[in-house]
Amino acid sequence: MDITVFLGAPGSGKGTQAKRLAQQGGFVHFSTGDILRAAINEKTEVGLKAKGFMDRGELVPDDIMIAIIESALGRTGGKRVLLDGFPRTVPQAEALDKNAKTAVARALYFQVPNPALIARLTGRRVCKNCGEPYHAVTLKPKQDGVCDRCGGPVIQRSDDTEEVVKRRLEVFESQNNKLLAYYEKSRKLKAFDGDRPIEALQKELLRALQ
Ligand code: AP5
Repeated sequence: MDITVFLGAPGSGKGTQAKRLAQQGGFVHFSTGDILRAAINEKTEVGLKAKGFMDRGELVPDDIMIAIIESALGRTGGKRVLLDGFPRTVPQAEALDKNAKTAVARALYFQVPNPALIARLTGRRVCKNCGEPYHAVTLKPKQDGVCDRCGGPVIQRSDDTEEVVKRRLEVFESQNNKLLAYYEKSRKLKAFDGDRPIEALQKELLRALQ
């Protein structure tokens, strides 16, 4: 398996980039946030366990997340894999690497300053059906409130309020240096300036993925 992990703060553009790359073909994209939100909508046991953590902006426990990603990695269809939102802790990173088949090939880190992250997250809108990301100011759907891709309703995520965004950024900061050090040690880390237009970053990512 060829696995690339996208690292970066909430709002750094991991989901936006991974979805676009997967739509172009050749990659399968797994977002642990999207998987958890689907589980919440379906009221599964995992969804019920995860909801409180997500609403507060805290991390869902590692054992739940590792089981989710192990199950997802059984459904790659032979494509190259982009992981967005996983790993978020060193134990999650170790869980991937302990199995030679799921060892990470490269970790791409998107760097974006905090004021830009806050503006992106509080303005973010997403399709309730397919998860396509939009922004209330910078990336509106063609028809107000309707997803360009699937026609689903475009909504604001419940954890994109200012208070929860602040907590998510604190939680990210508490884990990020340890995670970067983990991938730096194995020489798999490559950092990108994520504070520029979506297309410009996409071109650079494609080069790193070749
Ligand atoms: P998750 O859904 O993964 O949220 P996140 O990491 O907080 O990341 P985001 O989805 O907020 O940001 P993103 O980097 O994908 O940005 P996006 O592309 O959307 O996780 C939610 C929760 O689930 C967590 O808080 C936790 O509770 C739980 N969870 C998930 N995984 C877990 C794990 N492994 N372990 C434990 N718990 C876990 O972009 C954001 C906005 O910016 C959009 O509006 C977009 O249009 C805009 N934008 C994107 N790129 C650009 C650009 N280049 N320029 C301008 N605007 C841009």
